[in-house]
Amino acid sequence: METKETFGSKLALVAATVGSAVGLGNVWRFPAETQANGGAAFLLVYILCVFLLGIPVMLGEFSLGRGIREDAVGVYRRLSGNTPWRFAGVLPILASYIILSFYIVVAGWTLEYFFFSVTGDLYSPINAVTAMPWSTACETQFKGKMIEYILTDIKPIVFTFIVILMNLFILIKGVKKGIGKISNILLPVLFVLLLLFCCVSLSLPRAMEGLQFFLAPDFSKITPMVIVNALGQAFFSLSLGMGVLITYSSYFPKDTKLTSTAVTVSTLDLLVAMLMGVIIFPAVTSFGLMDSDLEGTTLVFITLPEVFAQMEFSEFWSALFFLLLFIAALTSTISIAEVTIKFFEDRFKMNRKKACMLVLLPLFLFSAISSLSLGSLSGIKVFGMTIFDALDFCASNIMLPVGAIIMSLFIGWHLDKNVLKEELTNHGEIKSYIYPYVAFILKWIAPILIVLVLISPLLK
Ligand code: PHE
Repeated sequence: METKETFGSKLALVAATVGSAVGLGNVWRFPAETQANGGAAFLLVYILCVFLLGIPVMLGEFSLGRGIREDAVGVYRRLSGNTPWRFAGVLPILASYIILSFYIVVAGWTLEYFFFSVTGDLYSPINAVTAMPWSTACETQFKGKMIEYILTDIKPIVFTFIVILMNLFILIKGVKKGIGKISNILLPVLFVLLLLFCCVSLSLPRAMEGLQFFLAPDFSKITPMVIVNALGQAFFSLSLGMGVLITYSSYFPKDTKLTSTAVTVSTLDLLVAMLMGVIIFPAVTSFGLMDSDLEGTTLVFITLPEVFAQMEFSEFWSALFFLLLFIAALTSTISIAEVTIKFFEDRFKMNRKKACMLVLLPLFLFSAISSLSLGSLSGIKVFGMTIFDALDFCASNIMLPVGAIIMSLFIGWHLDKNVLKEELTNHGEIKSYIYPYVAFILKWIAPILIVLVLISPLLK
């Protein structure tokens, strides 16, 4: 069934797609990866990955989605005849649902930290007199809060459930009135908050030192592992390989210029990641926290609260910052859920309301299991990992890259060359100089490089 619905306007289309791309990957994973991989050198490789590889793969997904205008499973079926390729769409649907079941939990944490910043609970005992030196007291406090907010049973589940309800509320309204409208509102708010934090961070005493780490490359730091990590980060951040872009582009009008849309979305996504670097590195350097472990969760839920605790109006800045993270995460969860919703709408001819319920209601159970696996179910291990980490590993490190390889091979080797050409040129109405390059990357370069990402954990 061909989709007739669209995002409503060009602005909404870009806002929604950027909203999907900009998420925890930019505001949290990117700074952590940058620190772990040598700062500016990583940034440089990352930029190359986005432009040389990310954009062509994004254009591949856009061409499939806008051309066929169905869910991911339908797209592959329509284009594959009786070959085994017709099953290729199943993987992205599964991967996206698995990712959703824990991504939404993390979105819940950001909402929780926003809430407890507003109430002051996050910072309250720190002001009490303790026998410890201030910095130790501070660290102890936020470690304790993290255990209380994230690693227990009830609190994180409550906030996760609120995020699921928000998703339901937005998604039930449909593509134009739900996703398009909310993206149009939230994305400008996100950018205003980002710029505000940039100003604050750059006005700190040792800002330049932090910027130096982030922006002055030391080429000797570039190793094969840095390249592999940058590529993995680019795929995650641009929402590639999970059917999200196939699904969203099925709502693009026929006259959308795919190339300029892909360039705009990728550039804005990169910009947000870079702004996050400009915010985080000067802040952690200025407050003497550069040597602390900036790895994911620690960075966001321990190191940054330590930074805010040293600032005046801690609660205020903290609340604004977690609001920023929450907005970024929410618009991504919406896009991931939409993949499966559209699948039910198209494959089973369900109405929107029913499809939304069928996708989001079971999440109350699945997300609770993900969340509990960090609390009282933490004893249960799958290949030595908690359920939460195992799901993350399986979906992000295996299913997502495999999905991207399949898509690249499908377009590069199986699909009639004209499909890509027709889509990139809007059926001959505009010129596309980039077409041969995209075809080449999808056929040769993308599959090989993604295989490297896939096997990279074995190389470490
Ligand atoms: N791109 C999102 C982020 O950066 C995550 C995501 C991955 C969203 C895949 C949709 C699909 O956080």
